[in-house]
Amino acid sequence: MTASEEVKQKTDLIDVVGEYVRLQPAGGQSLRGLCPFHGEKTPSFYAHRDKQFWHCFGCGEGGDVYTFYQKMENVDFRDALKELARRAGVQLPEFDPQADSERAAVLAALEDAARFFEAALKHAPTGDRARAYLAKRGVKEETLAEFRIGYAPASWDAMVKALAGKSHPMDKLVAAGLAIPSDKNRSHYDRFRDRIMIPLRDEKGTVVGFTGRIMPDSAEAEKTGKYVNTPETIVYKKRRLVYALDRAKNQIKKADFAVLVEGNMDAISSHEAGVKNVVAVSGTAFSEDQIDVLKRYCSRLALAFDADIAGQNAASRALPHAWKSGLQVMVVVLPPGFKDPDEVIRKDPELWRKAISEARDMIEFSVERAISTVDLKDPYGKRKALESLKPIFALLEDPVLRDHWIHAVAQRLALGDDAVRSAVISAAAPAQKQPQPRPQAPKIDSREERLATRLLALMLHDPERFKAHVSALDDRIPEGELRTLAKLLSAYYTENAKAPLLEPPFFAWYANARQADPTLPAVEPILLLMDRDMPEWTEDQLAEEASVCARELEKSAVKKTEKELLGALAEAEQRGDRAASTHIAKRLEAIAKRLHN
Ligand code: UTP
Ligand code: MN
Repeated sequence: MTASEEVKQKTDLIDVVGEYVRLQPAGGQSLRGLCPFHGEKTPSFYAHRDKQFWHCFGCGEGGDVYTFYQKMENVDFRDALKELARRAGVQLPEFDPQADSERAAVLAALEDAARFFEAALKHAPTGDRARAYLAKRGVKEETLAEFRIGYAPASWDAMVKALAGKSHPMDKLVAAGLAIPSDKNRSHYDRFRDRIMIPLRDEKGTVVGFTGRIMPDSAEAEKTGKYVNTPETIVYKKRRLVYALDRAKNQIKKADFAVLVEGNMDAISSHEAGVKNVVAVSGTAFSEDQIDVLKRYCSRLALAFDADIAGQNAASRALPHAWKSGLQVMVVVLPPGFKDPDEVIRKDPELWRKAISEARDMIEFSVERAISTVDLKDPYGKRKALESLKPIFALLEDPVLRDHWIHAVAQRLALGDDAVRSAVISAAAPAQKQPQPRPQAPKIDSREERLATRLLALMLHDPERFKAHVSALDDRIPEGELRTLAKLLSAYYTENAKAPLLEPPFFAWYANARQADPTLPAVEPILLLMDRDMPEWTEDQLAEEASVCARELEKSAVKKTEKELLGALAEAEQRGDRAASTHIAKRLEAIAKRLHN
């Protein structure tokens, strides 16, 4: 048994989930509660005591104890394993002691660097200019302490020397992104010089990097970027870092709402003003990883990007991302004349609160933006506006929303709905369906799909029932994912000498099959249907239900054939093809018999 299997065996998923979700008996072996991964009011999150998996019927996420812990704590598999092993009292073989000690050494260097920068800011005369600058910007003492803001002295190697003196090896300072080897690699210098230093901390508050703002009067100010950030290191993954989340997460959870700003200073000012559900993207483009992180804390997100063109473009680019993630997305429009949230807050925090409370629906914002940037008297201007709206309409799969916005745009542009529709919905519309996410639960739309899923659930739970209905797993199951799944199940059953389906070997086999064919649906949600929909049923009722499902599926398949044959019959008669007509009529007769027996 591998270590991860041992840990899993000694861990109860229900306990782990229970720390985050209030679980209640759902019937059978399942418990249910409000999904921690998406906002919801009625519980659709299920955890299965016996099979130790979880699934949410609302957002489609699911998995085992490792995936749950990973998603919940935003850690990778390795960290999840380490933590769960610790709890279960399982001694893990040191599977990568080198990487572990490298991480620890880099984090220690970063923590000491943060202390060094904090001390330098307080130190006179070293930190005098920086303190004066921060005071002029209006940053309070408590804020400096809360965000651990510091100062990197205007020296080539002050920090390197101070940390080397604390016995941090130079290669660790380089790995931490703090020191840069000089050309000959004989000496090293500080990456951050004469800068206001803002530690970048992860969700738990651990310093993983820095961003440094140049002092405006610095000798280097003209030559370097206004901000310099720690490069990607083993502890700083910039696409994942959401700045100030350690300070903001509680408020974000409570309000179910996060406000995302561009600059670290914007987030800091907002917290200082008491608006604490604010985080910053911090020196990168808004990334999908950041959305994944935020999604774990809230279901509503407002983007408050800078008023400049770069900021507005960044907001526009981020919108599709955020929309597809299932978050409700809004856009905060800054009052006119202000460059960024920091400026607004420094002028009057009430303006900032008001701007946030008036955040606008993302579609409305995009429509407004597209329309307000063109000359509406010019027909080509209208064209241009519609062209720029295409990406937004591509997101609107909901026909009601789509019609609503087509109509709204048509009115604004004094055009007919049809003209707008054909302009914004590109002919190649189906093409945007391409990067389908890996399907989780099978989709259940039609009555047949419902019947088939239910039948599969009932069969999977009982080997006898499986045997009784295995012959139904053919073309009677609606085409698509479900039929593929049904055929696989019946193949497994035959090939493995009628091996029971819900045992670990089956799950391993199926996981493999899914790896090979990522379009296969997850089987766990099907299993859970039993506990969700038929919790207290007796064996007889379950057996009866399976038969009813099988019979109805059969009927509907037969009816479909009947319909096809009727079509063929009409066609044959029209052609005057006697032989064919008779043949089809005979088949129809047989079918009628089957239907009414
Ligand atoms: P801004 O130039 O608007 O900076 O860049 P700011 O946040 O208003 O900073 P202050 O108020 O002048 O101190 C917006 C964001 O873009 C990133 C930073 O994250 C910054 O907060 N940026 C900007 C960089 O990463 N590097 C740069 O050279 C400039
Ligand atoms: Mn600013």
